[in-house]
Amino acid sequence: MIVRYLGHSAFLIEDLLLDPFLSGNPTCKITPDEVNCNIICLTHDHDDHIGDAFEIGKRNNAVIVAIHEIAKYASSRGLKTEGMNIGGTITVGEWDIKMVEALHSSGMGHPAGFILKHRKFGRTIYHAGDTGLFSDMRLIGDEGIDIAMLPIGDRYTMGIRDALRAVDLIRPKLVIPMHYGSFPAISVNPEDFRQDCPVEVEIFKIGEEKDL
Ligand code: NI
Ligand code: MN
Repeated sequence: MIVRYLGHSAFLIEDLLLDPFLSGNPTCKITPDEVNCNIICLTHDHDDHIGDAFEIGKRNNAVIVAIHEIAKYASSRGLKTEGMNIGGTITVGEWDIKMVEALHSSGMGHPAGFILKHRKFGRTIYHAGDTGLFSDMRLIGDEGIDIAMLPIGDRYTMGIRDALRAVDLIRPKLVIPMHYGSFPAISVNPEDFRQDCPVEVEIFKIGEEKDL
């Protein structure tokens, strides 16, 4: 399964794109017109997560998957949408997409994370969105997570220490740190996270692609 990191919390996993914050990210040189996908999952409506989603969505005729209120707004702007809410699972293409809780804030609806299961590759990925640590991450771990994408940048989300506690709750096989280094306010060293993490950690450079 091909995973490409687009900086901040943005990933392209096969044909599914998450939180595509590209043109506003000073550390990202990838432009929205380079990104092709069928599905765009949005964890919440902060600018550093919605990012270029609508532009990319329109050009690709991709479906926006988001919490009801964001989906309604996206739909009013002419995008294809699948609205959902926390606890629900939908199937789009080869993906089973479950929306789970995140401990954060948002303008529209409620912030969320996603558990993504690809039917062909048989992998389960947890993208936590923006979140602080919460003990129900244990329930997310009970679903059997292969890859966890976790924020480590502190200030607006978990920092490294709490992200390590999250790993204990989620029990993934592999962790990919995200939401760090894009701005001075969230500048942490992912190697500090890797050093203390009990499971394998993949640190991506922006634009880097790995077969996981
Ligand atoms: Ni946020
Ligand atoms: Mn954020």
